[in-house]
Amino acid sequence: MRAIVITKPGGPDVLAVVDRPTPEPARGEVRVRVRATAVNRADLLQRMGAYPAPAGEPVDIPGLEVAGEVDALGPDATRFAIGDRVMGLVGGGGYAEAIVSHERALARIPEGMTFEDAAAIPEAFVTAHDAMRQADVRGGETLLVHAVGSGVGTAACQLGRAFGLRVLGTARTPDKLARARDLGLDVGIVPDGGKFADLVKRTDPDGVHAILELVGGGYVDEDLRCVQLLGRIVLVGLMAGVRAELDLGLLLRRRARVFGTVLRARPLEEKIAAMRAFETSVVPLFARGLVRPVVDVVLPLAEAAQAHARMASNVGFGKIVLRT
Ligand SMILES: NC(=O)c1ccc[n+]([C@@H]2O[C@H](COP(=O)([O-])OP(=O)(O)OC[C@H]3O[C@@H](n4cnc5c(N)ncnc54)[C@H](OP(=O)(O)O)[C@@H]3O)[C@@H](O)[C@H]2O)c1
Repeated sequence: MRAIVITKPGGPDVLAVVDRPTPEPARGEVRVRVRATAVNRADLLQRMGAYPAPAGEPVDIPGLEVAGEVDALGPDATRFAIGDRVMGLVGGGGYAEAIVSHERALARIPEGMTFEDAAAIPEAFVTAHDAMRQADVRGGETLLVHAVGSGVGTAACQLGRAFGLRVLGTARTPDKLARARDLGLDVGIVPDGGKFADLVKRTDPDGVHAILELVGGGYVDEDLRCVQLLGRIVLVGLMAGVRAELDLGLLLRRRARVFGTVLRARPLEEKIAAMRAFETSVVPLFARGLVRPVVDVVLPLAEAAQAHARMASNVGFGKIVLRT
């Protein structure tokens, strides 16, 4: 099979196309003929040598999500038949023509959806859905989504609308806020030098119930300034840095919760649980037209380097997909 490998830590040009043996499915696994995968920030970090693959995953082939057809069944794999169209999260190795996955970590691609669209779904929607579940958001509440034009942000915005939440969002680019309105964004905010709490309070004087924190760094202290009593702040991404100075007095008085989450490093059973919750609560929303994949651009797998450069440039809106 053809795969993209990280030849050494570095910039996008360290990615190269190579031939690798096609993997064989073990017990409970299926092999997926990957038709499309998508790019994630974690892939960029892995390429730079800052985020090694978890144990048991290919060490040099990035890629955390795939869409394709089942083309081989391991012993005791019973959920799918050869030829079934599936999408799912993988711990690595997605930038390849084939991958093996536990059958329960996969979901069926909704009827009539292309592989390119399906590849734009798993990381964005499972991450957003799982984080919103952990934040215990309920219909009628307000949700603030940072980097609302990102893959995860565009998914969270749509899920917020589908679940009956009022959605506020930030982006540094006003154009992305305008595009996010079509996805259910109620209030768009361009942070002013990284500050947004006062802007949130202009429309929501009491603050928001929950915050999907995709940016990290100094945003977290601002979050505390615009979260309601008993509010929840879920830390999902750290694009603005891993350090923050927080007003702990605010955290205390608001009786707020700040907690973090990751998907990639979770044990298989927990990934399967997140996928099952996604399959039950989110996959049907695609068929009903309540949510849709947001694809920024589709490139051939061999152009993974351009895809990485595009993600790093922050110009995109939604997911960057690689067609194999
Ligand atoms: N915990 C998990 O399991 C998990 C899973 C998936 C993703 N993530 C994280 O979620 C975040 C979003 O991922 P994604 O793949 O959806 O991102 P993406 O599609 O690449 O979009 C990221 C957007 O964030 C904004 N941004 C970048 N750097 C920023 C900064 N320093 N300050 C403020 N905004 C910044 C940019 O938009 P503007 O320039 O327009 O603001 C950029 O387009 C990332 O941090 C990623 O690592 C976490």
